[in-house]
Amino acid sequence: MSIFDGIFRGYAVLIAAFVVLAETEWEFIIKFWRPLCHKDEHTALLQFKQSFIVDKSTCFEPSDLPKTTSWKEEGAEDCCSWDGVECDEKSGHVIGVDLSSSCLYGSINSTSTLFHLSQLQMLNLAFNDFNYSRIPSALGHLSRLTHLNLSYSFLYGQVPSEILQLSNLVLLDLSRNADFSAEIELLKLDKPDVSSLVHNLTKLEHLRLSYVDINSEVPAFLGNLSSLTSLTLKYCGLYGKFPKAVFSLPNLQILKFDGNQRLSGFLHEFHSGCPLKVFSLSQMEFRGQIPPSLQNMTQLNRLDLGDNRLTGQLPSWFANFTQLAMLDISSNFLTGAVPPSFSRLRNLEFFSLAINELSGTVDIDMFLGMKYLASLQLQYNKLTVLTRSAHNASIPKLEILGLDFCYVFIFPDFLRYQHSLINLGLRGNHLSGQVPSWLWNTSMATVESIDISHNNLIGFDQSQLVIPGVSLRFLDLSFNMLKGTLPIPPPSIIMYDIPNNELSGQVSPSFCNLPSLQLACFHNV
Ligand SMILES: *[C@@H]1O[C@H](CO)[C@@H](O)[C@H](O)[C@H]1NC(C)=O
Ligand SMILES: *[C@@H]1O[C@H](CO)[C@@H](O)[C@H](O)[C@H]1NC(C)=O
Ligand SMILES: *[C@@H]1O[C@H](CO)[C@@H](O)[C@H](O)[C@H]1NC(C)=O
Ligand SMILES: *[C@@H]1O[C@H](CO)[C@@H](O)[C@H](O)[C@H]1NC(C)=O
Ligand SMILES: *[C@@H]1O[C@H](CO)[C@@H](O)[C@H](O)[C@H]1NC(C)=O
Ligand SMILES: *[C@@H]1O[C@H](CO)[C@@H](O)[C@H](O)[C@H]1NC(C)=O
Ligand SMILES: *[C@@H]1O[C@H](CO)[C@@H](O)[C@H](O)[C@H]1NC(C)=O
Repeated sequence: MSIFDGIFRGYAVLIAAFVVLAETEWEFIIKFWRPLCHKDEHTALLQFKQSFIVDKSTCFEPSDLPKTTSWKEEGAEDCCSWDGVECDEKSGHVIGVDLSSSCLYGSINSTSTLFHLSQLQMLNLAFNDFNYSRIPSALGHLSRLTHLNLSYSFLYGQVPSEILQLSNLVLLDLSRNADFSAEIELLKLDKPDVSSLVHNLTKLEHLRLSYVDINSEVPAFLGNLSSLTSLTLKYCGLYGKFPKAVFSLPNLQILKFDGNQRLSGFLHEFHSGCPLKVFSLSQMEFRGQIPPSLQNMTQLNRLDLGDNRLTGQLPSWFANFTQLAMLDISSNFLTGAVPPSFSRLRNLEFFSLAINELSGTVDIDMFLGMKYLASLQLQYNKLTVLTRSAHNASIPKLEILGLDFCYVFIFPDFLRYQHSLINLGLRGNHLSGQVPSWLWNTSMATVESIDISHNNLIGFDQSQLVIPGVSLRFLDLSFNMLKGTLPIPPPSIIMYDIPNNELSGQVSPSFCNLPSLQLACFHNV
């Protein structure tokens, strides 16, 4: 029966009903037209709700609204109309439960009435607090599940083998079940291991297991899951060789393996028309050069290869990734120049080449057309960064500027026009003369950290010795030739570093009134 037939038949019955039927029969017709929820499922949902504490204090975020508020015994009999509940239009059975971010707090086990919902296809319990419960093995009863999302919900222990029975799963998210304050993963994939998981769940399109303790090699079979569109396994303790077949998955758009520090590999085998948009492999052991086949990733939006062991030069064809919002290749062993053609990357928000062995000259002008750029980091290379021509540039609106050890000779004038800086690094340059008094006025409302240590600065404008910032927490003036009176930082200061200067005279009593100051180094003062 097509949908059209169904609607037509429905109308026909309704018209007949309108003409001849009594009130009780009316109810029957409407029920037939769009069935109400089944009594036993109604009860199961209510009992599931009642097994948790739900109130403001158990919410993750103040903005979380518990969906179960609309789940009531009286006055709302049709559970299909409750928030977070989805029913099959024809049978009226509950097929979806989405209680993500619903302030549920309490334990869950296999006796939970949730597992009576045998028709369930979609279950999302992310962002709740299940009080270090194990994932109940009764999950295996929900054989129709296609979507299972248990991320960030304080589940603990070995993932039960019954999960292997859920062979219809298209989405599995067990990520971020971790105690981030203690830096420990809570969930473990050991028996069953990740290899059995991917061998049995072959319909997966989305797999997220970040912060699950997997501690094994990456199963090569992952490269055979051709339906995969997103694969996120960050900080899983994976080791061994990265299976290169994964790079050739035909539909893969998101690939994230960051933080698997014992996982090594080479970048290669990217096919043409590669649909990858997010490619994130930071804090790993990738070696070798950036291969030309990477050019095939024309859809790329985020590329994070930071903290690996990549060598060779930055290819100029990177400039063709015009969709890029994030490019991070910091902390590698790259050599050679920064191609000026990178100025074409106009959608960049985050750009870091910090801590490499790059050399040559970079004109800061090349970044001035990037109106979304918030983070520009070139520090700790062998680069010479020219800032003279930027003048009064107020675009981009930078938050992080890292120009430490960049052979900068004068305070970049454009900083005067930057009003959103949080972090300013000019350590280890050749700045000389007085610290310009406008520096303290730069981004007064936002700046948290200024490092102008290891330069040849000689002192301060004596007319501006009170730093007006309201959020400045770290100020490093050490290793200069500063003379005269020290400027007084704002009350927000935590660390004020000034050793190895030629300051003299008394330390101002105002320092004693700084409430947060933990460390001020006054050696050689
Ligand atoms: C949470 O777990 C602890 C320890 O197992 C238990 O004592 C406590 O009753 C549980 N709290 C809730 C709300 O289930
Ligand atoms: C799981 O649910 C959370 C909360 O709704 C959501 O942020 C996350 O993207 C979901 N995971 C997947 C893989 O869609
Ligand atoms: C793996 O999936 C198949 C169906 O695809 C099922 O018959 C088998 O029992 C599953 N394995 C386990 C260990 O559950
Ligand atoms: C992946 O599939 C191919 C055939 O498509 C097969 O030859 C290969 O053995 C499979 N790989 C694994 C690890 O099972
Ligand atoms: C960038 O793409 C253009 C076509 O859009 C192509 O002609 C050019 O060769 C590419 N540049 C590099 C360096 O690959
Ligand atoms: C400063 O910016 C204005 C426009 O905002 C521009 O007209 C002027 O030429 C700039 N001055 C310098 C010295 O770059
Ligand atoms: C810095 O700002 C203060 C207060 O807004 C102002 O009085 C002072 O003239 C400014 N100094 C410079 C050098 O711009």
